[in-house]
Amino acid sequence: MSAECTDKSSPSDPDLSTLTLGNSIKESKDQVDSLETNPRNLSPTSQGRLNHIVQLLQNQEAKIGMDAKGRPVMQYKDTAPPLNWDASNANVITTPKPEDHKRKVEAFLKLVEYLKQNKPPGGVNLDSSQISKSNWYEEGTEFEKTQKILGTGNSAGDIIVLKDLKKGIEHAQKTIMISVFRKEEIQAWFDLNETGIAPKLIQIRIEGNKVHIHMETLEKVVTLREVIDSHMQTIRSTNPALVRPFSLCVFHGVLSAIQTMHDKNWTHKDLHAGNILLQKESETFIKVRIVDFGLASKVDEKGGLDGIRSDIVEAVRKFTALYANQEFNSAGDLQSGDTWKNELSYATDILQTSLSREERTELFSLVDSSLAIVAAYQTQDVMKKLEEKMTKIDLDEVMKKVVPILFPPCDELFQPVHTHSKGHSSIDAMGGSKDVVDASSAATIENNDILRKLRLEMAIGSDLD
Ligand SMILES: Nc1ncnc2c1ncn2[C@@H]1O[C@H](COP(=O)(O)OP(=O)(O)OP(=O)(O)O)[C@@H](O)[C@H]1O
Ligand SMILES: [Mg+2]
Repeated sequence: MSAECTDKSSPSDPDLSTLTLGNSIKESKDQVDSLETNPRNLSPTSQGRLNHIVQLLQNQEAKIGMDAKGRPVMQYKDTAPPLNWDASNANVITTPKPEDHKRKVEAFLKLVEYLKQNKPPGGVNLDSSQISKSNWYEEGTEFEKTQKILGTGNSAGDIIVLKDLKKGIEHAQKTIMISVFRKEEIQAWFDLNETGIAPKLIQIRIEGNKVHIHMETLEKVVTLREVIDSHMQTIRSTNPALVRPFSLCVFHGVLSAIQTMHDKNWTHKDLHAGNILLQKESETFIKVRIVDFGLASKVDEKGGLDGIRSDIVEAVRKFTALYANQEFNSAGDLQSGDTWKNELSYATDILQTSLSREERTELFSLVDSSLAIVAAYQTQDVMKKLEEKMTKIDLDEVMKKVVPILFPPCDELFQPVHTHSKGHSSIDAMGGSKDVVDASSAATIENNDILRKLRLEMAIGSDLD
């Protein structure tokens, strides 16, 4: 069902005062009737746009259709139709059954046609001071893989360090299969690129069925996961007086990063302790950095409020883990006031000797006010409370003692998390026979077996036909 708009005026000179509808539904007719009587009541901008719409309709470059709720919508002729093929097979050579040959050939031609018509770039270099300009950015010519691996994620596999051969500069590369890639990861990252909370994004490119993200290597970092699981134990046993100021400081840093994201209209939605890094800036200063925007979503879109809540609740989970050695199992445990209060009471009872009554009260009050946050702007109220407390603390003195625990002097030289014999990312080994796995590394083979299994389950790179 669609309502076509016609115009009595000459095709070259649309005149809004004579605009009428043919075969229209009542609602649309009422709207245009009012236009007929008062077309010039519209603002000059709206009049200009309406003129433009009429021109598009006359030239048959657009038509007016209707959405599910019966509201008129513009349908433009040049809107690219969806490229309909199985995303898990995106950009790999397929070997379909004979009856599917025609369909697959058509799908392939659509891709070529799309590239020819729209000329989308195969990558974007965002910082040519870090990475050499090149149409393809190929291994061996433009870069080499080092043996350093910065970390391993569930969706990306290994985050590897590359060396740009012309610039002689190292940077990190995260690789994601197209089939699981979300455009929001880059959109959020790009919008946050100048804020300093995320590693600098320096190049994105597509290669076969993978998207490569090239970024700044964060040096002298430790994940909050490592801090909670091991360093806090050292701090608690060697200098328990540091626990409170350090926890307040990290909580403030995490909330500040979250506020920056929310101010830029993004929620992270995956703030687990492996995605929050503490970076040593000096002997007395630690900065909070955030990685992995794979689940990022817009604040002002559907589910935005859930995203805000998720980020805040995750920050609270880290705070109670640091302050009271109580890491709630999931965000769900913090939804009910009774549950979290009981669990936190139990945890603080265990810590009775090292946690004063005032500290317990402070902890409960901060958790309570943070969990009351339902809109992004309220985060600053909790941050202000934290700042008031922090002004009474000699942070330089605290950090002077904490920094050597988180970054032991023997680790001063940059240490990768682990190395690969050939520096291949496990994701790199997926979806291409070119990427041969080094048979000498048992660990690599084991990892790749797991990933291969996962890949089969998800049908990534395999032909389903
Ligand atoms: N630029 C970087 N500099 C230093 N370390 C990094 C960098 N990027 C990522 N890492 C490390 O690699 C790990 C995995 O990266 P990332 O979280 O982006 O991958 P992922 O597959 O999306 O993870 P997840 O398992 O959370 O989905 C991080 O937890 C972090 O320790
Ligand atoms: Mg991650």
